[in-house]
Amino acid sequence: MAIKHFLQFNDFTRDELDHVFARTRWIKQQFKTYQQYWPLTDRTLVMIFEKASTRTRLSFEAGIQQLGGSAIYLNTRDSQLGRGEPVEDAGQVISRMSDIVMIRTFEQEVIQRFAANSRVPVINGLTNEYHPCQILADIYTYIEHRGPIQGKTVAWIGDSNNVCNTWLQAAEVFDFNVHVSTPPGYEVEPERAGLYGTDHYEEFADPMEAARGADLVTTDVWTSMGFEAENEERRRDFADWQVDADMMKVAAKDALFMHCLPAHRGEEVAAEVIDGPQSVVWDEAENRLHVQKALMEYLLLGKVK
Ligand code: CP
Ligand code: NVA
Repeated sequence: MAIKHFLQFNDFTRDELDHVFARTRWIKQQFKTYQQYWPLTDRTLVMIFEKASTRTRLSFEAGIQQLGGSAIYLNTRDSQLGRGEPVEDAGQVISRMSDIVMIRTFEQEVIQRFAANSRVPVINGLTNEYHPCQILADIYTYIEHRGPIQGKTVAWIGDSNNVCNTWLQAAEVFDFNVHVSTPPGYEVEPERAGLYGTDHYEEFADPMEAARGADLVTTDVWTSMGFEAENEERRRDFADWQVDADMMKVAAKDALFMHCLPAHRGEEVAAEVIDGPQSVVWDEAENRLHVQKALMEYLLLGKVK
């Protein structure tokens, strides 16, 4: 049987995602009540980071340990990955010594080539194109606070980056709508986003119009990792794409605010919003831990319970 990977959001069906969320609820409950749950005893997760991370490393490393397994951290600087060893060779070798692999890298193509040569499941921990684990946590967080996301409207304000692309894929799987507002020149590229169509999102020139009536308002940094050379230009181009209190006022009355973090207060989000009552960013960050534990359980053990 083909090995199951999680390289982009729509690698999983709605049924599989519902299962992962049901397991997340149970696994989170075990964690909160100090119940030991060690289904992955003796399993080893290798984490490969070609870009920086706080949350992703922490949540995967803590997560596998809490499930009874262990984690090994590799980065470009200290491994042969940074000295030009072909990614196909790395996939062959690393997957013979581990049970599951998480990779954070640049082009999506890199992770696809690794996965094609891997004997074990591979998880995307962020690429230039996608951040599927983040949106697992975000949708789980939305459901926890507000119930089903189907039919709801998510406003995406800012760059059409990896996190945005993943929201757009998720909208197709869960049947909700995304109102996207980017500055001119930074619009969604449906093919790069890996979309089946354009039915689940709408683009707005004015960010206030994108936010109007939205059930969830979300944004991300103006400059993603790997694009630092564009920083100054982006600061100018994105100056009017800040989620502030006026923007939250035009959203639905009970709208939530999310940000994958790290955030830049005073740039893509005003401090009064991210630190305000509608913000659920800390729950969102914590849920990375719980959803990824359920994800690893599913990839390694299939549908348990
Ligand atoms: N949101 C997120 O992936 O955070 P890190 O870059 O800290 O892992
Ligand atoms: N879009 C951001 C997300 C960081 C978690 C980046 O790629 O840098």
